[in-house]
Amino acid sequence: MIIAIDGPAAAGKGTLAERIARHYSLPYLDTGLLYRAIGREMAERGLDPDDAAAAGAVAAALDPARLADPELRGHAAGELASRVAVHPPVRAALLDFQRRFAARPGGAVLDGRDIGTAIVPEADVKIYVTASPEVRARRRTDELARKGRQVEFPRILAEIRERDKRDSGRAVAPLRQAPDAALLDTTDKDIDTAFRAAVDIIEKARAEREKRASL
Ligand code: CDP
Repeated sequence: MIIAIDGPAAAGKGTLAERIARHYSLPYLDTGLLYRAIGREMAERGLDPDDAAAAGAVAAALDPARLADPELRGHAAGELASRVAVHPPVRAALLDFQRRFAARPGGAVLDGRDIGTAIVPEADVKIYVTASPEVRARRRTDELARKGRQVEFPRILAEIRERDKRDSGRAVAPLRQAPDAALLDTTDKDIDTAFRAAVDIIEKARAEREKRASL
């Protein structure tokens, strides 16, 4: 079973995807880490993240071992990720790796922005996870505060809005809900409630698939 989870920044995709993967004993790929690793490597090497050709070259040579770097989870890496993610050569270079991951025997859970629309349009289950920009900014602010970073809510909200605009407005693989994706709005849901709603969506999709197969 391939489960595709997409949605905007700080909607709760990552936590949800991880729990779903554990629940169904499936391997999990956080595809945001790929873009984060490219952004960070470019910054380290003094390259301009807005240079499409340079970013494409870094993406083509990306070492998956870099994905374990804890620095990638940081706020700065997320901002860089969204800048390198607009370049078509970057997205093209990462396509194969993501598709191979999805094609593992038994299936996989992938989360990102374009999993259900571009990476695995044939996924068995697609969930589009979202929440209001204010709630997402609040969660991100609290998350950073827990890590000891004092950040101001208005700044985070402005960054989230900016990121939404960049992710949805880019020409290649923009962020959008696939027509066959179930919408999961977590604005008023805590993680346990969101997780139960996701499992309901998955079980329903699974039952429908089995019904079709038995016809
Ligand atoms: O949770 P958050 O959105 O902060 O981070 P993320 O999921 O790691 O994504 C960081 C950035 O990478 C996003 O803003 C997107 O621009 C980009 N991204 C993408 O374009 N496609 C993906 N499949 C995953 C991430």
